[in-house]
Amino acid sequence: RPLAVETAREDSRAAGLKITQRPRRNRKADWSRRLVREHTLTVDDLIWPMFVIEGTGRREPIASMPGVERLSVDEIVRDAERAARLGIPAVSFFPYTEVSLRDPTGSEALNPHNLVCRAVRAVKKAVPQVGIMTDVALDPYTSHGHDGLLSDGAILNDETVALLVEQSLIQAEAGTDIIAPSDMMDGRVGAIRAGLDKAGYLDVQIMAYAAKYASAFYGPFRDAIGTQAALVGDKRTYQMDPGNGLEALREVALDLEEGADSVMVKPGLPYLDIIRRVKDEFGVPTFAYQVSGEYAMIEAASRNGWLDGDRAMVESLLAFKRAGADGVLTYYAPRVAERLRAGA
Ligand code: PBG
Repeated sequence: RPLAVETAREDSRAAGLKITQRPRRNRKADWSRRLVREHTLTVDDLIWPMFVIEGTGRREPIASMPGVERLSVDEIVRDAERAARLGIPAVSFFPYTEVSLRDPTGSEALNPHNLVCRAVRAVKKAVPQVGIMTDVALDPYTSHGHDGLLSDGAILNDETVALLVEQSLIQAEAGTDIIAPSDMMDGRVGAIRAGLDKAGYLDVQIMAYAAKYASAFYGPFRDAIGTQAALVGDKRTYQMDPGNGLEALREVALDLEEGADSVMVKPGLPYLDIIRRVKDEFGVPTFAYQVSGEYAMIEAASRNGWLDGDRAMVESLLAFKRAGADGVLTYYAPRVAERLRAGA
């Protein structure tokens, strides 16, 4: 080796770098990492979505969502009690409607004794301290799998909104705490708010699925509620185009003007930029939905031994907090709550 190279090596080894900033100093020990951590995930950030099915004592696995089950109302109560024990603030219900009850207008959505309403009543009675959120949209009830009324291949906006108002009133009467319109019809938040107020449900909140994208990540959910096979066409005439960001801000602005108490961005991880922009622009309670496909991806990789599922779960949920979300709807709610309680 040339002498010059040897000398240069020895010099740099002896002298070290002349730098004053060494960011690694703060990372060198667990106590220090904890002290400087900017964002944390807590059990208070969680909303637990559950799938309801007819029957008793029934827990039915969902193939594309390993670890998640469809539950009969009595089993929903057991899981809601578990949510209460774990300190999870709220749960959310989605029905698997019997195929024989589905029709083109989704009339089962307006049945005050449908699965969701029965689940709401049972859980309110058993664990009144747990918040209950219910989805407002027609897709679990329509034979064509769309969130609204279908006519000649088009989804009718205003006619659908009239039904969504009725659906909201029926859920409010059953005792829901948060109405979450996930249908993406124009003007539905204002119409629902007016309907709730007129009926005296002044305290029922509205969490608007404000920026809901037409996404491939809802696939496993549509298996879970049995709409995948039935769905005619796609939802791109009402759910948002994944290429749009400013449009999400307009949707959020409208829902807030119309009376939404909080807003949601959905899906979650592929849309962290939208969460951040919404939070910065409006500063209102902002939620993310870590949807079925996001859950399925992590579980599939984890069950194949390709990544550490628990760590991926915590890291992905923490990412929502860092992006500005106040909370997350996640199928991991019970599992991450157990982990947080164990101090991991
Ligand atoms: C339907 C609805 C969907 C989800 C929540 N409400 C699916 C869709 O729009 O087709 C998706 C949730 C998930 O994927 O976990 N209104």
